[in-house]
Amino acid sequence: MTSTTATELAAGGAGLSVSGLSKTYGQRGEIRALDDFSLTFPAGQCTVLLGPSGCGKTTVLRSIAGLVTPDSGRITIGDQVAFDHAAGHEEPPEERHLGMVFQSYALWPHMNVAEHIAYPLLTSGLAKTEIAQRVTAMLDWVGLGGMGNRFIHELSGGQQQRVSLGRAMVGKPRAILFDEPLSNLDARLRERMRMELLALRQQAPFTSIYVTHDQLEAMTLGDRVVVMRAGRIEQMGSPEEIYRRPRTRFTAEFVGIPNLLDGRVRDISAAETVVDTALGPLRAVGWRRDRQTGTRCTVAVRPTLLGVSRGTVGAGQTEGHVIRTAFQGSSSVVLVDVAGAQLVIETLAEERHEASTPVAVQPAQGAVFALLDD
Ligand SMILES: Nc1ncnc2c1ncn2[C@@H]1O[C@H](COP(=O)(O)OP(=O)(O)OP(=O)(O)O)[C@@H](O)[C@H]1O
Ligand SMILES: [Mg+2]
Repeated sequence: MTSTTATELAAGGAGLSVSGLSKTYGQRGEIRALDDFSLTFPAGQCTVLLGPSGCGKTTVLRSIAGLVTPDSGRITIGDQVAFDHAAGHEEPPEERHLGMVFQSYALWPHMNVAEHIAYPLLTSGLAKTEIAQRVTAMLDWVGLGGMGNRFIHELSGGQQQRVSLGRAMVGKPRAILFDEPLSNLDARLRERMRMELLALRQQAPFTSIYVTHDQLEAMTLGDRVVVMRAGRIEQMGSPEEIYRRPRTRFTAEFVGIPNLLDGRVRDISAAETVVDTALGPLRAVGWRRDRQTGTRCTVAVRPTLLGVSRGTVGAGQTEGHVIRTAFQGSSSVVLVDVAGAQLVIETLAEERHEASTPVAVQPAQGAVFALLDD
């Protein structure tokens, strides 16, 4: 089988949609895992659910997979209604035709790699030769060509996760549900697998829902990122939108923007708002358009949009004092006190700033900052 056929095997999928999903746990229903959650998942796209522990990400996935029964709502997969609380309709997991990849690889010690990948096809009615062909194609596609006879204990963590991916994809599911698939891997392998997953998706776009609390994975892999908070959607958009224009403190902090500055609106135009802050006037872009001049507000400032240098404070710069510097290899993170506000600045410069050094802090030229709604 050629690699094109392997790609064909992987590509595709259906769109999904969930509406009004609620789910509570506990004797009195006091744990609200999902709260009237509605979302559509476009065919061929990767939708990332990003949020802190306990916000309901896994509950969304398990509801879609049919492993959890929501208290209300409706789920459609392609043109098929998989769950409809009002109509008392619920399809069993095996009729939903979804693939799943978990954090724990859920592989069996007594089966070799090829047997794992063939497993979902055993009940498909396909001829043995066809199954063998598909397994070989899938092994190649996930980068395990020639390793079909190995047992699970003879594989690295990354290779094991590829086996689960191959197993999830081989039956041409309508969508693949990923639940923190990389979080058991060490940092380097995680990075490599993240790039490989991206490459696989670019070769053959398939419908996927990817759950993570890692903002880097969310930004890299998502066509769209949905930030979740307490069983609801906090914000959704493209990775760029979420990172450049977070709507709320919660989103800003969650996508790794620690600098939230108090400000006061000085000037409003159609494109942007000028906000007075401890760093001087900042040109910010926000979502809300109903602000008045003089009102208090919060601006999120990305750590990479601030410059830090020693020497005298010039025009457009503000004086601060270094609290500490952390060397990270390719960059350094400098924590600076500016008029009582602590700012995190990430810099590629080689220069090291010792604690209590006076420094000049400067917002990057032309940088636009995000004005938050709360
Ligand atoms: N079977 C269960 N029984 C009781 N409570 C549950 C059960 N499953 C989930 N919960 C609760 O529902 C909420 C949402 O859980 P869920 O597993 O969906 O969160 P999550 O976003 O996937 O978190 P994590 O990042 O830690 O995996 C949490 O408060 C959790 O404790
Ligand atoms: Mg989870």
